[in-house]
Amino acid sequence: MNKPKLLIARRIYPEVLSKLQEHFDIDYNDSDEVYAKDELIKRLQGKQAAMTTGTDRVDEQVLKACPELKICANIAVGYNNFDVASMTARKVQATNTPDVLTETTADFGFALMMATARRVSESEHYLRKGLWTQWSLDMFTGPDVHASTLGILGMGRIGQAIAKRGAHGFAMRVIYHNRSKLSAPLEQACKAQYVSKEELLKTADHLVLVLPYTPEAHHTIGQAELALMKPTATLTNIARGGIVDDAALAQALRAGTIAAAGLDVFENEPALNPELLSVPNIVLTPHIASASRKTRAAMADLAADNLIAFFTKGQVLTPVNTIQ
Ligand code: GLV
Repeated sequence: MNKPKLLIARRIYPEVLSKLQEHFDIDYNDSDEVYAKDELIKRLQGKQAAMTTGTDRVDEQVLKACPELKICANIAVGYNNFDVASMTARKVQATNTPDVLTETTADFGFALMMATARRVSESEHYLRKGLWTQWSLDMFTGPDVHASTLGILGMGRIGQAIAKRGAHGFAMRVIYHNRSKLSAPLEQACKAQYVSKEELLKTADHLVLVLPYTPEAHHTIGQAELALMKPTATLTNIARGGIVDDAALAQALRAGTIAAAGLDVFENEPALNPELLSVPNIVLTPHIASASRKTRAAMADLAADNLIAFFTKGQVLTPVNTIQ
């Protein structure tokens, strides 16, 4: 029997590739180059399956041009690169990689928040430039993390894992805002209290964004929201570019509206708003929150398992949509 045809749109780990080779006839992009839309469409012709990452946009144009496509397995928990409504309408199964990255991503969110509060990048740049000639009592002082108020916007799995780190490890008071309030046992496990978005912005000493990107979430944090925050507060974004208005943030950091920001995700990444690069009180990382070797391998493996299960069992492990 002919194997289904699979496009792997980005370089993956050899062990995951070998596993997929047993089940699929593979067209493999053995590089880190993102296919342009035309190339993606060309490569997907006649293919039933695709393995994608968050930068491969699967939209109505792609779906319409590739009618044989039955499943797209994203190597990411976020799937804003998918037009899920079009995929569902065209009966294309979408999958993502939740759970396997939760703790690793929470570690990074917490690390970025701490680095932001304690001015790790800013002081390292100062040191590397040879500007450190003497120690002073007030040198690179910043807000404390322990026993401060941690605000979390988006209280899914990763938000909860960050809350637990803050509440149990750092004696932080944890407040959160989310589309829905957590159940009482979950709130208790996270020692977290539900508040309005306004109260979250006004009260948090350290605000961490972990909400999914949807068109409604575009610029959830803009000039008006930043203006509500404390001038001593920090903002950390490990969710998605576009949730923060990067231009407004750069301006707020320059003006001292908030103290500092840590960003792992950006509008139009990997291109960055140049204003962000010249602001000193910011920590910038290239979308690496889930990047432990073990977790990235687990993400690729789960995406592969979704593809294999779809063709061998007729159902996937971590669906994003329901196909009738
Ligand atoms: C990374 O950003 C992911 O969504 O997994």
